[in-house]
Amino acid sequence: MRFPAEPFRIKVVEPVRYVSRAERVRWLDEAGLNLFRVPAETIYVDLLTDSGTSAMSDAQWAGLMLGDESYAGSKNFYRFERTVRDLTGYRHVIPTHQGRMAEHLLFSALLKPGQIVPNNSHFDTTRANVEAQGAVALDLVIAEGLDPSADHPFKGNMDVARLDALLRDHGRSKVPLVMLTITNNSGGGQPVSLENARAVRAVCDRYGVPLFFDACRFAENAWFIQEREPGQDGKSVRAIAREMFDCGVGCTMSAKKDGLVNIGGFLGFQADALEESVTNLLLRVEGFPTYGGLAGRDLEGMARGLEEVLDEDYLAFRIHQVRGLGSMLADAGVPIVQPVGGHAVYIDAKRFFPRLAPGHFPGQRLVVELYREFGIRTVEVGSLMFGHKDPGTGEDVFPALDLVRLAVPRRVYTFEQMRYVAQSVIEIFRKRDAYTGLRLTYEAPVLRHFTARLVEMASEPAGARGEAS
Ligand code: F0G
Repeated sequence: MRFPAEPFRIKVVEPVRYVSRAERVRWLDEAGLNLFRVPAETIYVDLLTDSGTSAMSDAQWAGLMLGDESYAGSKNFYRFERTVRDLTGYRHVIPTHQGRMAEHLLFSALLKPGQIVPNNSHFDTTRANVEAQGAVALDLVIAEGLDPSADHPFKGNMDVARLDALLRDHGRSKVPLVMLTITNNSGGGQPVSLENARAVRAVCDRYGVPLFFDACRFAENAWFIQEREPGQDGKSVRAIAREMFDCGVGCTMSAKKDGLVNIGGFLGFQADALEESVTNLLLRVEGFPTYGGLAGRDLEGMARGLEEVLDEDYLAFRIHQVRGLGSMLADAGVPIVQPVGGHAVYIDAKRFFPRLAPGHFPGQRLVVELYREFGIRTVEVGSLMFGHKDPGTGEDVFPALDLVRLAVPRRVYTFEQMRYVAQSVIEIFRKRDAYTGLRLTYEAPVLRHFTARLVEMASEPAGARGEAS
């Protein structure tokens, strides 16, 4: 497929080693087949995450030299604040060291135990921060968003009817805010339409509840709106992003994604009443309001990144690079989540390895094979990450989907490297019947995927696979 080539040239290179297969086998052994435990230096193409892995531009690097490291009132803060205000229209801008701190500040200020936060889909840290306040994180994405093969241009949309029913039943005393994640990471990086955001806002207005965005990938979301939403193709991505932000009254942001920086984030909001409680907590756990948890130079890099990410040549290249990887896989018959989202391709591991039972971790099997044979790191988002024992019966409970995420860092890898990844996946796919499953030998009680240890099963027990593929 043809897609826009890189709208940049390479000025600095970071050599990557291609270590021997024998060395990778040794590391896998030592790591208990867990890719979170292998040294990054042994990886050739690292698709673990698109977060904090972006390449900064020459202008961003130059900006770091302009860092004003004054404790209070750094000039970089004022530039950063102006940039975020222009972008979002939100009056208050609180820098944080990354997205989850913005979540912590917001939920600490707004939530009480027993309350409910609806979102299209909560990202893990967002859910964890809601639950840390004793509140309930409720996912209300449309039904198509849960079906990997459903073709819908905005699979990140929220189910407005369900939101309306929730607010009708519980009102604002039980639901103190609504969130929309753009793009919807947990749902495959799928976008939310402007029409949906406006409809969500209308429901929020009816019940007097504020709408906040989880805006990590707001620019990619706006690009999809320009591409797909009727009547939006004549507008700039910047204008579309602003219309989106205008639907809400604030946002949390991990600038490690569309901020094009390696660390940073912010909380933006309109309400003066929120400022005091947020600032008090910020001072205790993060820092003074003109630096958050960052250095002045980081604020400069973030301000510049938030401008650069709106470059439509960059965004066209970015989205098509990810989509191109998806197309190479789909053309070879590899089952992937369709349509491809903004930051990652997701392989449907249940259909990739139809002979492997969920309890034998088909997704992790593919993750292990991609590293062992080709030096590629990906991440399982399936039975290893979300599976657990039912506290009542002790039985294994597995999620509906077993996916492998190939998240593409921004401005880092070339098309040839994407082709290498696609060819590697396809090579394993062609031999898919030869692979056995994996077995857990250690699991922690929470977030087990970070520390789990596994071994290969000698052979797949007959009839292991319980249900149809
Ligand atoms: N919200 C979304 C939608 C995210 O994808 C992330 C991070 C966060 C919040 C938290 O931001 O990491 O800066 O604290 N996602 C990364 C990922 C980790 O790999 O998808 P953070």
